[in-house]
Order: sequence, then C-alpha cells, then structure tokens
Amino acid sequence: MAAASYHWLAVMAALVVALVAGLPAAGALGVNWGTMATHRLPSGTVVRMLQDNGIRKVKLFDADPGPMDALAGSGIEVMVGIPNNMLDMMTDYGTARDWVHENVSRYNFDGGVTIKYVAVGNEPFLSAFNGTFLNVTLPALQNIQRALDDAGLGESIKATVPLNADVYNSPVSNPVPSAGRFRSDIADLMTEIVQFLNQSGAPFTVNIYPFLSLYGSDGFPLDYAFFDGTSSPVVDAGSGITYTNVFDANFDTLVSALAAAGAGGLPVVVGEVGWPTDGDTHATAAYAQKFYAGLLRKLAANAGTPLRPSQYIEVYLFSLIDEDAKSVAPGNFERHWGIVRYDGQPKYPMDLSGGQGGNAAPAALVAARGVQYLPRQWCVANPNAPDTSRISDGVAYACSLSDCTALGYGSSCNGLDAAGNASYAFNMYFQVQNQAEGSCDFQGLAVTTAQNPSTDACNFTIQIEPSAAGRRRRAPVAAALPLLLVLRAVLQVVL
Ligand SMILES: *[C@@H]1O[C@H](CO)[C@@H](O)[C@H](O)[C@H]1NC(C)=O
Ligand SMILES: *[C@@H]1O[C@H](CO)[C@@H](O)[C@H](O)[C@H]1NC(C)=O
Ligand SMILES: *[C@@H]1O[C@H](CO)[C@@H](O)[C@H](O)[C@H]1NC(C)=O
Ligand SMILES: *[C@@H]1O[C@H](CO)[C@@H](O)[C@H](O)[C@H]1NC(C)=O
Ligand SMILES: *[C@@H]1O[C@H](CO)[C@@H](O)[C@H](O)[C@H]1NC(C)=O
Ligand SMILES: *[C@@H]1O[C@H](CO)[C@@H](O)[C@H](O)[C@H]1NC(C)=O
Repeated sequence: MAAASYHWLAVMAALVVALVAGLPAAGALGVNWGTMATHRLPSGTVVRMLQDNGIRKVKLFDADPGPMDALAGSGIEVMVGIPNNMLDMMTDYGTARDWVHENVSRYNFDGGVTIKYVAVGNEPFLSAFNGTFLNVTLPALQNIQRALDDAGLGESIKATVPLNADVYNSPVSNPVPSAGRFRSDIADLMTEIVQFLNQSGAPFTVNIYPFLSLYGSDGFPLDYAFFDGTSSPVVDAGSGITYTNVFDANFDTLVSALAAAGAGGLPVVVGEVGWPTDGDTHATAAYAQKFYAGLLRKLAANAGTPLRPSQYIEVYLFSLIDEDAKSVAPGNFERHWGIVRYDGQPKYPMDLSGGQGGNAAPAALVAARGVQYLPRQWCVANPNAPDTSRISDGVAYACSLSDCTALGYGSSCNGLDAAGNASYAFNMYFQVQNQAEGSCDFQGLAVTTAQNPSTDACNFTIQIEPSAAGRRRRAPVAAALPLLLVLRAVLQVVL
C-alpha cells in the first residue's frame, strides 16, 4: 500500500514536472522581449502573458536576471543575447567562458531556463555602425560556441548572430532574389561566418522588415509589403519565380547569398519581423493588423518561400511590448513596435494561430493580468497661466526626458493644437516621473486634472507602477528553484 502510493506519487510528480517543463515547441511562434522602457512590466507578468497567449519561444537582447529568473520553469524556449558593446570582450576566450557560465550554465537545471540559442551581438554589421564590430563578431561567435561546447551544452545550444537584412542585397542592375549576394564590403567575412555556422549546426539569424522597405523608399508599392498579392510583382528571370511580397523576396535573396557562399542548405531563423503602430504615416494599428494577419496565415500554413517551399519558418515577432526609452535614431516609430502597449494591452485583433484556431472572427491577444497603474490623473497645460511665452521651453524639456514621438508628423497625436501639444508633452513627463510632487508645474504652465484629455486618435496615457522586477537584481534562483519546483510538484499532487 505504502509502496504503491509512493509509486503513484512519483509518477504524478514526474508528470507535473514534465508539464512545467513544457512540451516541445517545434512549430511555435516566438517574440522579442525588449526591456528599454522607463516603466517595465514585472517580468512575472510578462511571462504569464506569454503563457496566456500560448507563446513558446522568446528572444532576449541580453541575459538580465529579471526576465531569466521569471522564465525559469516556464518551458518557454529562450534565445539569450550578448549586446554589441560586449563583443570586444568576448574575443577573449576566458571572458566568453565566464559569460556562458554565468548566463547559460547557471540556468541549466531541471526547472531552469530552456536556452536554445545565444545571440552574439545584435545586427553588428549594420552600415550605421561604421564597421565598429567587423573585427570582433566572428571571434566572439567562435569563443561562445566553444565555451558552450566545453560546458557540455553545445549539442542543444547554438551560438548565432542576428543580422540585419542589409548584410545582403542584389545588384541594382538585376534586383531579383536569385541574384542575392552578401554585401561586397563584408563578403569574405560573411562567408567565414556562414561556414562556421554550418559547421557548428547553428542557424543563420536574420531580421526582415517590410515596414522599413516601405519607410525607406517613396516609390515602394504599398501592397508588396503585405501578403495579399500585388499590382507590381517582381518577376525573377533568373529563377522563373514571380514574387508577390517583399518578405519572400527578401528571404530568398538571403537563400541565394547563402548558396553563393557555399552554404545553400543553412537553416534560417527570422530573428525579428513586425510592424510598428505609431511614429510614421505607415505605422498604424490597421497596417500592423493587416501585416500580421498575412504573415501569421502564411506561417501557420508552413508555406515556406519560393526557394524553400513547404517548410516551417522559425520566426520571432518584433516586438512584444512597446519600449519608450529606445533610441529614435532610426525613426519615431522605433518606440511603437509592440504587439501590446507599454502596459500589456493588445493594440489590435491578432490571431497568433494564423487562422488555425477555427474562429471566423479575428482572435484577440490576452492582455497582461494584474497590471498596477499610477493614480488616474493627467498633467495638462494650465489654461489660466498668466504668461505662456516660455511654454515651448517647457515642452522641449518635457520631451527631452520622455517620449513625445506620438506628436510627430504622421503620428497619432499630430492633429493636436498648440495647447494640446503642450499638454501631451507635460503629461508624458509627469507620468515618466511617476506623477511625482512638482513634476506637473513647469513654472505654473501646467496643472493636474482628473479629466481624461485623450482624443479619439491620441491617447494621453497613465503610466504603470514602477516595478521592483524592472530594477536590476540578482536573485539566487539557481539554488532556490529546484527545491521550489519539487515543493510545487509535491503540493499539486497532494492537494
Ligand atoms: C551576464 O549577462 C549580464 C546581462 O547581459 C551581464 O551584465 C553580465 O556581465 C554577464 N556575465 C558575465 C560573467 O559576463
Ligand atoms: C558613423 O559615421 C557617421 C558619419 O561619419 C557618424 O555620423 C556616426 O555617428 C557614426 N556612427 C557610429 C556608431 O560611430
Ligand atoms: C579591423 O582590423 C583591420 C586589420 O587588422 C584594421 O585595419 C581595422 O582598423 C580594424 N577595425 C576596427 C574597427 O578595429
Ligand atoms: C554544412 O553544409 C553542407 C552543404 O550544404 C551540408 O552537407 C552539411 O550537412 C552542413 N553541416 C551541418 C553541420 O549542418
Ligand atoms: C505640435 O507639435 C508637433 C511636433 O512637435 C508639431 O509638428 C506641430 O506643428 C505642433 N502643432 C501645433 C499646432 O503647434
Ligand atoms: C489608451 O491606452 C489605454 C491603456 O493602454 C487603453 O486602454 C485605451 O484603449 C487607449 N485608447 C486609445 C484611444 O487608444
């Protein structure tokens, strides 16, 4: 009797552990989880939102212990990242080994973090970086993979380099996918990198942005950015293929470049793809909804691309959450890539199953649960201010320390009048300052109000509570977690 019930308990515990560890995530959709926000959602809230939405893969830009600890035991597959500014250090093997030890091996236990990839750098060969990372990226990649191998993890965890699609192109004289080659200034380096990836069994990781194709060129045919056919398809005489969307054309340009570099069979992971919702005339929720509907339908059908037909493409959407502290050097849209707002609220209908869920109506994402907001009050321009001559100084100051990108040309709040502009700026500053005493004054130019100043198009937001999980910390998770999981397993069996 005792033996039998012990056996039953062990089986149940194993089962619960298996459930906690998660099912294989093959075919699952991934998302990028960036954290460059003034107010981060608590990591646990984000992980629960991922789970509520059935998202089984996530890509990070570093190895911050906050998100990593929250991901432990979730079964979600993770790509951890090494930022560009650490690549130089990783050319030293000892430093690479320490990084792997602290940021990979430490999470490698039952109920830890299911790390699948290490992203070595982030778009290090972007033309805008002026070659800063050209000499360090390959040595860093080699050292990290060697450190993974030496730690006994190299079979299951692969080092890769997420690259911008600007590392390859086709000649202006023959701009078709079959003519794709790596950029001439880095062709030799790219050949070495793809051969290394091929040898280590790692995928090539590329970020593809149809939105940026559109943003970058006035003559770009709008419908070519989506997936519903186009009035101006690209006919590739080299392959006899007709391309009807820029995603396929871009992907296949890479496939051709890989083949030319002697690695035609190298698996390709799309590290980032998405559509922003503000900060440009083409950055709207309606376009984003249309783009994702087409992309997700295509992915769910395992359609592949013309050069790699009928196959599953591993994709990480960019991005999960808006980040109001990102650099706007690429454009004002940069802070609006999230499929959910800063507070975890979905922006538009989106069916992650790509129509495979059986619902006729577009499904909605599940919002973050239990989000805590600051008090329901806003900061606006004071209608009774005696002297408003210095209001533009106040606005400039407010916007230099908060996110005013929604005010720009083509953005959601561009239609406000001068007073509305000032109110928007003052409120963004007030919210970033956690509505602190004195942060809604601007020498008498601003006052707080309980009346929501939002318009149909323009959202005056209330920030979320600053979270403890948003701050940097290092929790002793590796030591505490296995015990916790065993306890949880036992409790679930007993209760
Ligand atoms: C581990 O990753 C974190 C976050 O990216 C970084 O700050 C830290 O330096 C890394 N540890 C080592 C030993 O390199
Ligand atoms: C690259 O060069 C341009 C032009 O010289 C300069 O404006 C820019 O700041 C440089 N960027 C970096 C990351 O060094
Ligand atoms: C990279 O190495 C080459 C050759 O050693 C050197 O000329 C160049 O200055 C280096 N570039 C950087 C950014 O360090
Ligand atoms: C590397 O590429 C060659 C040719 O495409 C292929 O036969 C080989 O299996 C690849 N190696 C790995 C480890 O994937
Ligand atoms: C409001 O601010 C935006 C961005 O600074 C500017 O383009 C617009 O002209 C302003 N509108 C008025 C009426 O001042
Ligand atoms: C404004 O933002 C809040 C918080 O995310 C959201 O609930 C609301 O729907 C938004 N309103 C508009 C008009 O976008």
